[in-house]
Amino acid sequence: MTRPVRALEARYYTDPDLFRKETDNLSAQTWQFGCHASELPGPGTYVTFEIAGESLFAIRGHDGAIRTFHNVCQHRAHQLVSGTGTARLLVCPYHAWVYELTGELRGGPNINSVPGFDKSSICLTKVRCEEFLGFVFVNLDPGAAPMDEWFPAARAELSEWVPNWGELKPLEWVRIEEECNWKVSVENYSECYHCQINHPTFASGVVKPETYDIQPQGKCLRHTTECQDLEQMTYDIRSGFEHFDEYSSWFLWPMFSFQVYPGNVLNTYHWRPRDAGHVTVWRGWYSTDGCEDPKIRQLAIQDRETTVAEDIRLVESVQRGLASRGYRPGPLVIDPCGGVKSEHPIMHLQQWMREAIDGN
Ligand code: FES
Ligand SMILES: [Fe+2]
Repeated sequence: MTRPVRALEARYYTDPDLFRKETDNLSAQTWQFGCHASELPGPGTYVTFEIAGESLFAIRGHDGAIRTFHNVCQHRAHQLVSGTGTARLLVCPYHAWVYELTGELRGGPNINSVPGFDKSSICLTKVRCEEFLGFVFVNLDPGAAPMDEWFPAARAELSEWVPNWGELKPLEWVRIEEECNWKVSVENYSECYHCQINHPTFASGVVKPETYDIQPQGKCLRHTTECQDLEQMTYDIRSGFEHFDEYSSWFLWPMFSFQVYPGNVLNTYHWRPRDAGHVTVWRGWYSTDGCEDPKIRQLAIQDRETTVAEDIRLVESVQRGLASRGYRPGPLVIDPCGGVKSEHPIMHLQQWMREAIDGN
């Protein structure tokens, strides 16, 4: 007799030791969002960010390429840069060693007096990075497979759903603090079993829940649905592009999602875990050249006031429940036919979580 699949045990969401293990085994070995390429408009522009507890930075070289490095000087470990800025060369604030934008050591005060000092052997530590529709992703694992292997077809599909991606720049980034483990938030994002009773605006004004489904595509969870009947839509979706009457989302395991709202409106989620019980969620909205766009601004406000606010209450309640002595992981509702009232994506996610954290 087959038995229902059980949800992941509570300790995965509450135990600080497990969080540390997860940082090494999961966060540091997966593709993570770093920054948007438009934040690096010219040679020498850089942006710092933190992934898996590591300070990193992305910088555009004189050749136009974006490179990412660990933010640490190879002399005695001072941080090289902070925040954002523009540099002709990278000069360490501690003893003024100077690096090229490509990471090679160019010089430093009095280093030539050191017998045997081999300047050419010293370089900032590179981090794997890839541009994906104008978004810069990094992977701390030097041996990681390319994103197209992790997320088959996602790049081509997204270019079809967002044909103007090359013109888009961030319009706004909304920072949302949630008192829960990042996995609670990601799981909540990855099922719509809760949508009809918790997200009336989304379910009645954006998508058509009865057509909603989520299916794995490599390590991507692909959400698809039709949009609401035109008269029920909360905004004008006529964009002149194909797929304007669909909602689609590509969740790129483990902490990023590209969403395309009806009308080909690109928006994103990315999660930055802070500790076992806290996560910062960023909601990104994009417009042509980052210019003011009342429709997108309005959609961002509607999203913040409805779906986002509704989800915060859900995930924080779940986190409190996971700390309860009275909780035993329940069976997942997996409908063999899939659909909106099925939690099969949670089964996939939790399997990926177990594999990454425990290696099985
Ligand atoms: S630590 Fe950077 S120059 Fe000394
Ligand atoms: Fe939700």
